[in-house]
Amino acid sequence: MRLRALRFGLIAVACVACTVGGFAQDRGLDDYKNNLAPYVNSPGHAVDKMLEMADLKTGQTLYDLGCGDGRILIAAAKRFKVNAVGIEISNHLVKRASENVKKAGLQERVKVLHGNFMETDLTGADVVTLYLATAANESLRPNLEKYLRPNARVVSYDYPIPGWKPVETSATDGLHGATHTIYLYEVPNSILRK
Ligand SMILES: C[S@@+](CC[C@H](N)C(=O)[O-])C[C@H]1O[C@@H](n2cnc3c(N)ncnc32)[C@H](O)[C@@H]1O
Repeated sequence: MRLRALRFGLIAVACVACTVGGFAQDRGLDDYKNNLAPYVNSPGHAVDKMLEMADLKTGQTLYDLGCGDGRILIAAAKRFKVNAVGIEISNHLVKRASENVKKAGLQERVKVLHGNFMETDLTGADVVTLYLATAANESLRPNLEKYLRPNARVVSYDYPIPGWKPVETSATDGLHGATHTIYLYEVPNSILRK
């Protein structure tokens, strides 16, 4: 009787471990400690406006930090014929974004990388897009200042970059009559001298 209970207990523990392990792998809980913003998509009209404000030129390179399902990358590559790189911490979303890029036939120009944008070299970016949170933008600011070249632009949906001065802002409609601001920053004009 005791042996049977022990065996049952072991099987139960193994099942829970497998479920949690599989869930973590599939749903991107694998790197929760470095996850600086929840997954919420930018609405289509906000993506359009962000990309217009970014003033992309053919052949330039856009980085979307925390690229979610890849919608900004895909819209930028399609509409403006740019190269686009997405950094995403969730395995699950990396897979989804990569599938979306493949469906759109843009694998040549769009790369989705699994990683932490806080550890990403941004030297190659002409434009960086963000939809994160104010605290995440604040943590990221030293990296933006370290890596971005003069004339690089940063477009942030909904959240400002504390300590930087936008060169332009634009209000867009959100759900339930809410208004969301898009912030455009330029290097070096937006960087406040201390
Ligand atoms: C609000 S969503 C924005 C998704 C997409 N950029 C868009 O506008 O539709 C934020 C994304 O950032 C990702 N993320 C959060 N912290 C991250 C980190 N440290 N490195 C890479 N991605 C991260 C989340 O997994 C999530 O997909």
